[in-house]
Amino acid sequence: MQSHEGRVGMKVCVTGAGGYIGSWLVKNLLQRGYTVNATLRNPKNEAKTGPLLSLPGAAERLKIFQADLCEEGAFDSAVEGCEGVFHVASPMDFSKLSEDDYVQPALKGVLNVLKSCSRAKSVRRVVHTSSTAAACPLNEEGELISGSTLDESRWTPVDFMRRKQDPFNFYYLSKTLAEKAAIEYGLNSGEMEVVTIGPGYVAGPGITSTFPVTCGEILRPITGSSEPLKLNESFLGSIPLVHIDDVCEAHIFLMEQPNVQGALMKMIIVFLCQLLLRNFWIWGFLISMLLKTFLIRLSNWPNLVDY
Ligand SMILES: NC(=O)c1ccc[n+]([C@@H]2O[C@H](COP(=O)([O-])OP(=O)(O)OC[C@H]3O[C@@H](n4cnc5c(N)ncnc54)[C@H](OP(=O)(O)O)[C@@H]3O)[C@@H](O)[C@H]2O)c1
Repeated sequence: MQSHEGRVGMKVCVTGAGGYIGSWLVKNLLQRGYTVNATLRNPKNEAKTGPLLSLPGAAERLKIFQADLCEEGAFDSAVEGCEGVFHVASPMDFSKLSEDDYVQPALKGVLNVLKSCSRAKSVRRVVHTSSTAAACPLNEEGELISGSTLDESRWTPVDFMRRKQDPFNFYYLSKTLAEKAAIEYGLNSGEMEVVTIGPGYVAGPGITSTFPVTCGEILRPITGSSEPLKLNESFLGSIPLVHIDDVCEAHIFLMEQPNVQGALMKMIIVFLCQLLLRNFWIWGFLISMLLKTFLIRLSNWPNLVDY
């Protein structure tokens, strides 16, 4: 990949650019001089495209493409001529009830994106956004493995996740299967590197017109039931939290470093999250996040009251 100085003008693609992380990543990339091809499912949705198109640098260096993860070849035009691809898109809507709603788009989607990258021939590296959801320290019975470290060798047990038909389980399953597929594709691909990154719960500022799902989840101890957080804690042994700026910084770091391979970054972000393991830390983090971000930006997210 290019050096720090050489990235200005480098063309990259961001999938899921209308989402919370994707849109903040686009903002960061434009700020750094990248040219960005952004994919959304529905570019006619002005609530999603508006915040992107009004970003500084967007008029000159941002192009929006339509692409659905489930459609083979849908990403061909968006990745054409790109050197790097950030594959961020994946279902995060926990209102869906079937395994197929999560696993199909995540698993088929990552392979569709990677195949488009292979066809493009210009892509040298793909950074795939995975999750700590793919690295649960659980045994096959779903029991926490005490004293375990989350690192790139840790994988969520898929049979356990399949046993309970619940949207959170489907999400964990989808992230695990998609990350494994991405790494395998990268290992078999001679032409490009695939690197994965595993953030915990992401929070912080954003440009989306709706309040991000995971920020709402994090606020639940204050606004409502903490059940989803407790479920996640039972899978992960903690509630790992990470600031969106750190997540975007890490994505770009992975794109810019000359030598990175496999699931290296999974470990680094998980390590950041480990610093915030216990409830004591969560409250400290929550309060600082509230002060730093949410309270200042309430007017940007009118549907915050839904949480
Ligand atoms: N937020 C977190 O705490 C967190 C933590 C760890 C990992 N992650 C991962 O980070 C990524 C982004 O999450 P987020 O928090 O930004 O969620 P988000 O705001 O819900 O964004 C999800 C994105 O995925 C896209 N998407 C979903 N299904 C799709 C499909 N069938 N075809 C094309 N695009 C599809 C959506 O596209 P549209 O905009 O077109 O609807 C949206 O842009 C996901 O891979 C997620 O697993 C998130």
